[in-house]
Amino acid sequence: MIRKIKIIKTLIIIFSFSLSFSANAQTVEEIIKGRKAMFSENYQNAKKISILLKSKRIEEAKPLMKKISDNYIKLLEYFPENAKEGFKTGALPSIWENKDEFNALMKKASDDMIKLAKAIETAEDLRAAQKKLMWSNCSACHSKFRAPH
Ligand code: HEC
Repeated sequence: MIRKIKIIKTLIIIFSFSLSFSANAQTVEEIIKGRKAMFSENYQNAKKISILLKSKRIEEAKPLMKKISDNYIKLLEYFPENAKEGFKTGALPSIWENKDEFNALMKKASDDMIKLAKAIETAEDLRAAQKKLMWSNCSACHSKFRAPH
């Protein structure tokens, strides 16, 4: 019985090691495709937010804002040195030349989504609030860090 428990314990340890190993060993392809997928998801959710807010469905829009905010934080880890090119990336080399500025824009975009979720509770002009706290951050970053498309 004790031997059995030991074997199971060992298996659990090996399994959790291999899990954390595979999580760290993302390929360049997975990284680039992963970040594209997150930006696309953010875009879809931003469009949904616009539609919801047009009919003042504020409470339904809030979870989507949180989701976009969380994605931006995750995205900070998706621009390592080895993922500058390939797989049809639209990321410009300027990202790695200005990493602090890029990361600061990403964090601001994330913070602004949380601010937006708060602002829509009292804002009179919901479109203006979205422009200021959501859409302006897309173009601020794209104009410098994403290839024209
Ligand atoms: C801090 C920088 C930054 C912010 C903020 C940002 N983006 Fe991007 N976005 C990028 C970069 C860099 C890429 C290119 C990624 C790649 O191709 O590897 C990109 C790519 C995209 C793509 C293409 C994804 C694909 O499948 O190729 C879409 C769509 C997009 N962004 C939409 C948005 C929208 C909408 C917003 C605002 C709600 C936004 N982004 C905010 C930097 C940003």
